[in-house]
Amino acid sequence: MRLSETAKIILERRYLRKKADGSRETIEELFYRVSNAVAAAEKMINPQLSSTQVNKIRDTFLQMLTSLDFLPNSPTLMNAGTKLGQLAACFVLPVEDSIEGIFNAVKEAALIQKSGGGTGFSFSRIRPKGAPVTSTGGIASGPLPFIKVFDSAAEAIRQGSARSGANIAVLRVDHPDIKEFISLKSKPGTLRNFNISVGLTKEFMEALENDGFYNLHFNGKVYNRFKAWDVFSLIVEHAWSNGEPGIIFLDRLNEGNPTPALGEIEATNPCAEQPLLPYEACNLGSINLSNMVRNGQVDWGHLAETVEWSVRFLDNVIEINKFPLKKITEMVQSNRKIGLGVMGWADMLFKLRLPYNSNQAVELAEKVMAFIQEKAHAVSSALAEKRGDFPNIDISVYRGQRRRNATCTTIAPTGTISMIAGTSPGIEPVFALVQTRRILDDYAVTQMNPVFEKYLTENFERTTRDRILQEVKRRGSLQQVEGVPEEMKRVFVTAWDISPEWHVRMQAAFQAHCDNAVSKTINLRPTATKEEVRKAFLMAYHLGCKGCTVYRAGTREEDVVVPGACC
Ligand code: CDP
Repeated sequence: MRLSETAKIILERRYLRKKADGSRETIEELFYRVSNAVAAAEKMINPQLSSTQVNKIRDTFLQMLTSLDFLPNSPTLMNAGTKLGQLAACFVLPVEDSIEGIFNAVKEAALIQKSGGGTGFSFSRIRPKGAPVTSTGGIASGPLPFIKVFDSAAEAIRQGSARSGANIAVLRVDHPDIKEFISLKSKPGTLRNFNISVGLTKEFMEALENDGFYNLHFNGKVYNRFKAWDVFSLIVEHAWSNGEPGIIFLDRLNEGNPTPALGEIEATNPCAEQPLLPYEACNLGSINLSNMVRNGQVDWGHLAETVEWSVRFLDNVIEINKFPLKKITEMVQSNRKIGLGVMGWADMLFKLRLPYNSNQAVELAEKVMAFIQEKAHAVSSALAEKRGDFPNIDISVYRGQRRRNATCTTIAPTGTISMIAGTSPGIEPVFALVQTRRILDDYAVTQMNPVFEKYLTENFERTTRDRILQEVKRRGSLQQVEGVPEEMKRVFVTAWDISPEWHVRMQAAFQAHCDNAVSKTINLRPTATKEEVRKAFLMAYHLGCKGCTVYRAGTREEDVVVPGACC
């Protein structure tokens, strides 16, 4: 396998399992373990299959993983074929408006977190601060102090796990405690284990567009009336100041809900790419688009084949996945949601010599994702013919069709698996051409974009190359480097070289052909203005995105990645 040093360090420090004799498995053994466990599902689905047939499928999976054409989400890499066996990255748990309900959710969250999954919670059902508590005759504390309880529990569990699942707290914009929620993370170091996100409603967005007011209500009682613009400005202010909160568009998430008869979607998983009903979970996997380029062209045939096997792989994962809660097992097996996405998009554009911030790139994004989506749906239908439809199909929007999975596509951040694959994360532009990145809690590396490096080697003689490299190591970007051809500057752009508008346009292009949602962070330079954040949020809404997240460099205690080489 061709793995970077970074990939080897991550795998060795976090992913390799202990064997029965106490020794650690090798990287090759890891990929074999995963392929073998996922192929074993074939026999569970179709007991007639011979061992030779199963082994052939295992070898196809193994080839797909070891060529780094496709990788499943981290829990699958870590836990497939182990006793724990929890393979999904995304969960949503309900939080009911009672002490019993709240603390039950704390326990359920603890069990999920222990298994490496990330959990989303909507706290919108908890009565607001000051509301009466009948049983005690007292007054309610509101959702905020309870979020802190979830965070403390998560902090305690974090200590002992290979990967501590992330969490997100969502509150509807019309919950009476919304203003305090928006500023919940304004003090550095608070709620370390949680991201926060405001659930914006259609009513709120309309009030915002009309410069009007909207009601804050709970259980039919109106508590207050706020000017939409004031609340929006508060969100923008805080997002600008440290990236929190993000926003999600609740009505839009529900427009994409394949099983509305089972309830409303109130939350997403932590990085917001996966809207889920309470007790649903979803396993993700991502195709490495950088590997789908041959001779400077998109290799559509190879992409189609990879989609086909990836969907089968992800559907198999559902068969063998072990969840810590029975309710989750039931929900997952009834809807069978999977989330196939992409990584390496920016590297693909580098190889195709298309600037990320260009109409051609946005058009290609639509074309690539539409292709993946269409093919994934076709494969899911074909699997349904052989394996059966997802059990809830008759109460879903797919009634009358064949479908094995209630959803097929999701674009994850691929924070770790893209580093294992040695490519750019998700659909993000590269952060910098040379960057210093924390890859583990206590380990940082300097990385040079491999496509850029190859381009430099192939197109410049040594002295010029060294001069350019020296500058890029200092700045992370090519834009201010003298003597670099304009065309090269246009192609090799970084997150900060691209205006927020192009980030949003790209997110919208992928969203247009994605069943679930798209994880995307608009990485802003330190000097970005609140006005830019405001515009990006509004544009995300107008272009059909399901949410929007920004992060302005230097606004948290420590940035995970910084441009340029360290020291
Ligand atoms: O690359 P990898 O498979 O490790 O994960 P990702 O694509 O960066 O994140 C996918 C999802 O995994 C997130 O949206 C979270 O739900 C979950 N996650 C988590 O719980 N804890 C983390 N430290 C990272 C991701």
